[in-house]
Amino acid sequence: MNQTKEKAEILYLNMIKKYVLGELQIGESNTETISFNQVKEIIKNVELKYRPQLVGQKKNLRDVLALSDETIMQSLNKMAQESSNLTMCKPELLDHTEFLVRKIINENIPGDLLEAGTCRGGMCMMMKATLEALGDKSKTIYLSDSFMGLPDADPEKHLADAIWNDILKCIGSLACSLDFVRNHFAKAGLLDERIKFVPGWFDETLPSLAINSIALLRIDADWYHSTNSVLNFLYRKVSDGGFVVIDDYGLPTDCAQAVDNFRSQHGITSPIIKINEQAVYWVKEERQVKWNF
Ligand SMILES: C[S@@+](CC[C@H](N)C(=O)[O-])C[C@H]1O[C@@H](n2cnc3c(N)ncnc32)[C@H](O)[C@@H]1O
Repeated sequence: MNQTKEKAEILYLNMIKKYVLGELQIGESNTETISFNQVKEIIKNVELKYRPQLVGQKKNLRDVLALSDETIMQSLNKMAQESSNLTMCKPELLDHTEFLVRKIINENIPGDLLEAGTCRGGMCMMMKATLEALGDKSKTIYLSDSFMGLPDADPEKHLADAIWNDILKCIGSLACSLDFVRNHFAKAGLLDERIKFVPGWFDETLPSLAINSIALLRIDADWYHSTNSVLNFLYRKVSDGGFVVIDDYGLPTDCAQAVDNFRSQHGITSPIIKINEQAVYWVKEERQVKWNF
């Protein structure tokens, strides 16, 4: 590749990474902090609320949370203070998305790109910027989210998800409006007809979504039910050689259980590859999948 073009491409993509990571001022950060006492109070309340399930399922709250109160306080404050960032993901995940999109274009992997659980949309901006840098005009990016935050979880089936859902309510349940996301796509010059928003709950929007094939299916939806719904409705559309990224595989929620159950139900043995301490991906190999749904 021509050296000047290659340099411009790197500069542009580094600038987009800074934009979505909040390093270029895009709005006011939340300056309120959540105190240790507030966290203790929240945890006391969830323990009281879910005592019947904890007892019935013979579980201990500390084991379900898997994190100390101190770590929970730090994580909540980090999430609240980074609410002006366009992505909650770490820089290495942006690099990895760029890497996958480059592979999809260079290796002609058919299909569009879809993120289920976009929140403020930064990861999809990274996908679009990479397509732009590579001069691709063929792929569409789908952003699927409630744009109202995380749904409630059933404590009888997925107690960890229900408890974490209650804890995250103190920072607004990760809700972000569609207008906010659309405006920031436009500000970065990335909004066009190849950006398609899919607002609503996955169970309602994904079964009838008009998308033929998917080259990159990125799932960042925290809970068992949400992750399972996306896999159930969309995995069959992932192209042979396409990629499935699970952002929350390492979280103390039931996300990994949803992935493991789905993979074993469908005989998927493509190796799970770690991206960082939280996220993983695999390459879909069609011949391995025993379709029975
Ligand atoms: C952790 S955030 C996504 C972070 C995002 N990928 C980023 O780059 O920062 C999880 C998102 O999943 C969405 N979500 C979870 N379950 C959902 C469901 N069943 N239907 C629609 N949206 C859902 C929430 O609204 C939330 O925006």
